Amino acid sequence: MERRVSLTWPGRARATRPPRSLGALDRTAPLTLVRGDGADAMGALAARGVRAALVYLDPPFFTGRVHRTNARDRRASGARDAFSDEWRDLPEYLEQIESLLVGARSVLAPEGSLVLHTDPRAGHYLRVLGDEVFGDGAFASEIVWRYRRWPAKTRNFQRLHDLLLRFVRDPSATPRFHQRHEPLAASTLRHWGAGKQQALFADGRRARSSTTEEPSPGAPLGDVWEISIIAPSGRERTGYPTQKPLALLERLVDTLTDPGDLVVDATMGSGTTLLAAWRLGRRAIGVDTSDVAHELAARRLAGAGAPIATAEVQA
Ligand SMILES: C[S@@+](CC[C@H](N)C(=O)[O-])C[C@H]1O[C@@H](n2cnc3c(N)ncnc32)[C@H](O)[C@@H]1O
Repeated sequence: MERRVSLTWPGRARATRPPRSLGALDRTAPLTLVRGDGADAMGALAARGVRAALVYLDPPFFTGRVHRTNARDRRASGARDAFSDEWRDLPEYLEQIESLLVGARSVLAPEGSLVLHTDPRAGHYLRVLGDEVFGDGAFASEIVWRYRRWPAKTRNFQRLHDLLLRFVRDPSATPRFHQRHEPLAASTLRHWGAGKQQALFADGRRARSSTTEEPSPGAPLGDVWEISIIAPSGRERTGYPTQKPLALLERLVDTLTDPGDLVVDATMGSGTTLLAAWRLGRRAIGVDTSDVAHELAARRLAGAGAPIATAEVQA
């Protein structure tokens, strides 16, 4: 069965970029902040033989706006342009994301995963781009991050989720994956109690379930995650626009990597992924083009007591 489809638009050129290099890089540093383009940085890291267990990308979402730090936020030193999400057209945006995907694939270890954070504005295009770049069989999961927030004025359903698309680097390799559990549903607890369930078979056919004495660890973690957004007055808020919750990144790092593994975030913003990696005993490299992102991420990580090395993408 033919499964390969691709996106096309007038003038589409496949992502090829002149190779770039990185200046001095301490490969033993727990955390490294790299100034420059994420696609260039990942290509340069790959060329040096660096391999990551997880690449997380949270690029601009095609909102058509410049994202600014909050004017009243002391932590961000007032209102400043943090990064632009303005594009000539959708093809220009998709070409940028394709470059990031190509870079991510190059730096991943065979057992590694890419997680691409997006939302329903462009997520459907990015899923197809991911299929193209990572190839047949590489798509692993679409995680729906469901959150609650102040209702928007709209004659539409409230938009209350983002998408996290996960692709594995090599579908023939056993992926890094740690099974985690979530609490049992109230109806399960009512009906079956908190014991581990056991499937019973009669004449080789599934008959019914029974509850054992052994306590259940919960239900294996599904692909709809309820995690709160950061409250406007939340302690973890840095003032960086579009900052993601630490709990979300900790769950990704915890489930998809081992202690000591390398995590790369090539659009790091305020450094949430690096902080999650540091707290969980992983190494991490964060890349961003924005000076504001570097300033806030460096301050945040230093505040957590993390030693930080720096590097720069060079022409
Ligand atoms: C949605 S924000 C990331 C927020 C981040 N996850 C956090 O928790 O703070 C997207 C970031 O991507 C950066 N960015 C956009 N294009 C980039 C590129 N080509 N290379 C590196 N960074 C890029 C922007 O400067 C911005 O900081």
